[in-house]
Amino acid sequence: MFKIVSTREMLIKAQIEKYAVPAFNIHNLETLQVVIEVAMELRSPVILAGTPSTIEYAGDNYIVAMANVGANKYDIPIAVHLDHFQEIDGIKGGIEAGFKSVMIDASHKDFQGNVNTVKEVVEYAHRYDVAVEGELGKLIGKEDSLIVEEKDSVYTDPETASEFINLTGIDSLAVAIGTAHGLYKGSPKLDFLRLKKIKEKVRVPLVLHGASDVGDELVRKAISLGICKVNVATDLKIPFANAVKKYFKENPNENDIRKYMTPGKDAMREVVKHKIMVCGSNGRY
Ligand code: 13P
Repeated sequence: MFKIVSTREMLIKAQIEKYAVPAFNIHNLETLQVVIEVAMELRSPVILAGTPSTIEYAGDNYIVAMANVGANKYDIPIAVHLDHFQEIDGIKGGIEAGFKSVMIDASHKDFQGNVNTVKEVVEYAHRYDVAVEGELGKLIGKEDSLIVEEKDSVYTDPETASEFINLTGIDSLAVAIGTAHGLYKGSPKLDFLRLKKIKEKVRVPLVLHGASDVGDELVRKAISLGICKVNVATDLKIPFANAVKKYFKENPNENDIRKYMTPGKDAMREVVKHKIMVCGSNGRY
């Protein structure tokens, strides 16, 4: 039995019904379990995202196998997604392992270079019915080994976005409208007018990266203007780590993995619940 789904249908449904599917970056059994269990409890579609270093750490086959346990057990749509892959080789391996959704991030290249790389991935992935997300523009911050300084960040241009989609055939587009990967230096300022213009020009579902540390109202507004997928990593990692650190402070001699992981999972559970509610993806299935 194989029930992991592509992100294509779930994002189109979200686009029609005007909510967003949360994409949570997972790293191991514990984080994957929390995301699936909470999504099930709230009847939300969910995307489990793995960056190249997560795949290197946990293994693409393990991630797919663990996600399949959840997908076979629960009747909500669960997708596993390769996040911020910069090379087609890693993507091919992930697709072979069973990933049905991939992001090819060639946003560091010039427009033509980005188009060529993304097009190659789309041609390959669509043969296996795998949905592809591309990115146009560059977000500030650090995600995995990808680091973008403020001076190098570029917002997505609405006209070019439409051309990019036509040339590549991508299924969804990650936009740069002022969010950043990781924590913000000041308060995040999102360019909603730009988002509105992008939405007017393109038909594919739009993706918001760097949604941690962004106020709920800003995220809700972005969703109301066309964002259909909201990526969250940092807001999960910090409470998980803090809860484990607190546990060790209070129990310095404990060495039972099951005991010290549990408070981390519980802390993360609350955040996952909250993010699903902000996305409005609860009760959709
Ligand atoms: P944050 O770490 O800022 O939540 O960004 C996550 C992300 O965009 C993953 O692709």
